[in-house]
Amino acid sequence: GSRFEVVQQGPPIEVFQLNRMFLEDPNPSKVNLSIGAYRDENGKPWVLPVVRKMEKQMANDETLLHEYLPVLGIEQFSVASTAMLLGEDSPAIATGRAFGVQTLSGTGSLRVGAELLNKHLGYTDFYYSVPTWDNHRLVFVNSGFTNPRTYRYWNAKERAIDFDGLIEDLRSAPENSVILLHACAHNPTGIDPTQEQWEKIADVMEERKLFPFFDSAYQGFASGDLDQDAWAVRYFVKRGFELVCAQSYAKNFGLYNERVGNLVLVVNDASIVPAMKSQLTWIVRGMYSNPPAHGARVVTNVLANKQLFDEWKEHIKVMSARVIQMREALRAELIKLGTPGNWDHIVKQIGLFSYTGLTQRQAEHLVQEYHIYLLKSGRINICGLNPSNVAYVAKAMNDAVIK
Ligand code: LMR
Repeated sequence: GSRFEVVQQGPPIEVFQLNRMFLEDPNPSKVNLSIGAYRDENGKPWVLPVVRKMEKQMANDETLLHEYLPVLGIEQFSVASTAMLLGEDSPAIATGRAFGVQTLSGTGSLRVGAELLNKHLGYTDFYYSVPTWDNHRLVFVNSGFTNPRTYRYWNAKERAIDFDGLIEDLRSAPENSVILLHACAHNPTGIDPTQEQWEKIADVMEERKLFPFFDSAYQGFASGDLDQDAWAVRYFVKRGFELVCAQSYAKNFGLYNERVGNLVLVVNDASIVPAMKSQLTWIVRGMYSNPPAHGARVVTNVLANKQLFDEWKEHIKVMSARVIQMREALRAELIKLGTPGNWDHIVKQIGLFSYTGLTQRQAEHLVQEYHIYLLKSGRINICGLNPSNVAYVAKAMNDAVIK
């Protein structure tokens, strides 16, 4: 017998399970539309050339050591990163009311930010969209948020945002509820509020005294433009909200496993920043002590150098343009096949994902019959499509739909 007999098997993590099933599948026609990672036109992962260049340079730099970083990470990284989100000319930065701390990618930022709000402000209610990234709820619950709640987001019939439902749910949220908002390229639906809709969201949140917590995992992927993709966050800051935002460099730098992130905090009074940094230091110290350096060094060097920064922006354009092409190609194939239904939403949606509207049964049909791996919600990673497999995927979708 073991004292660990009390430990019960938990469920698998869907997205990682699918990714593994794909890797282990010997079928040559297999297609991976599951995990949110970029693939090039040959279906291969892409290490951004500017990242490779930095890494080669760093490998030969004997001044780089493996000493501990400060608990809140590389200061220059957080400064550059915060400016990328809020804009170089942000008055909140200029007046010392906005700052960042280096974290373990988007998830680590969410966790550290949520702990601060729970432990120091006593917040216990948080709202996430239905649907959302499946880790949001877990991270907040583990951070001490005892009241996870949902707001409506997706209108399945129209395959569009359920804006009335969203507003109604926010209106009935208790004061000081933390509202988790996707800064851009909503995961999994690929639909963002319009600027007018963001303005209404801000109105309700101001009126109901709700706290905005942005998750920015795809800056650059929604429009191909970093500034445009930060519009919603910058708008809330301009409106005078205090807020936090989790920034991830997994997707836009392709640094998935390096865990590079930044937690941005914007407050009304610069004089409380030192106390906040001190408490964030204790939160991180008790959780993982201090962050890793490699990926953050890469990002810092690129953000700090105009020429490298421009090169990176070109890479983002390459990736976002390929996604748009594949959306169009998939829709065109479905139309060619005469697949029942309207497929315009595939090209209207933005970012890495499309919420196809396929049912769970149809999604499973694709996995089982065609070796095409996608979430049971019907979400597909558009990057998994390329000119060699898009017709095959469309044919499989057609088959699933008419069955
Ligand atoms: C995804 O949504 O596929 C990615 O963000 C990967 C993950 O960790 O779930």
